[in-house]
Amino acid sequence: MTEPGAVDSPCSPYLRVLLVGFMGSGKSSVGHRLAQLLGWAFRDFDEEIQSGVGLSIPDIFRQHGEEFFRSREERVGTDLLQMREVVLASGGGWPAKEGRMNSLDPATISVWLKVSPEVAVERVRREGATRPLLEVNEPLVRARDLILEREPFYRQAHFTIDSCAAGPDELAQRIHDLIYEKGEDHVRSLPPYK
Ligand code: S3P
Repeated sequence: MTEPGAVDSPCSPYLRVLLVGFMGSGKSSVGHRLAQLLGWAFRDFDEEIQSGVGLSIPDIFRQHGEEFFRSREERVGTDLLQMREVVLASGGGWPAKEGRMNSLDPATISVWLKVSPEVAVERVRREGATRPLLEVNEPLVRARDLILEREPFYRQAHFTIDSCAAGPDELAQRIHDLIYEKGEDHVRSLPPYK
């Protein structure tokens, strides 16, 4: 039985969905909606880090530095990637480490929400000073460099979606449909559920 209003997913209970992509790609807004469509939980790496440390992301960077943030991010990622029936939004930098994307549990479907540096910088600018890595004189140059560096990792996701192609509701629906159409093949190749 599924919860009232939840969609009975043929893939459940084997899967989790991991959204990756650069800052401003819409991972959280799309993730929330996708979780509703699937009737699953939604968890955001950054929110977990913030509540664990008791500080906002900018304050964590300011008071403890990026290295501290990355070690918290690693721990949170490991924990959340054990959850079942969950949509996860990673931080933009999480995938960019050798061995992360290519050693995901086979029960995880990963989706890259692709965004151009121009759109990313504009969206982030509208949110205020929330992304320490873009608080520089030339955020667009920084965004271009980071995206270039991270693309090989993002590219390892199972699916790629253009985050500018539609609004968050429509994007969530498209990802949901992708999982329904292609997810079953993926599920068939999974080890037995324990
Ligand atoms: C970061 C992205 C941010 C946050 C932190 C570092 C990055 O998350 O984790 O500011 O390295 O790209 P979002 O991608 O959710 O903005």
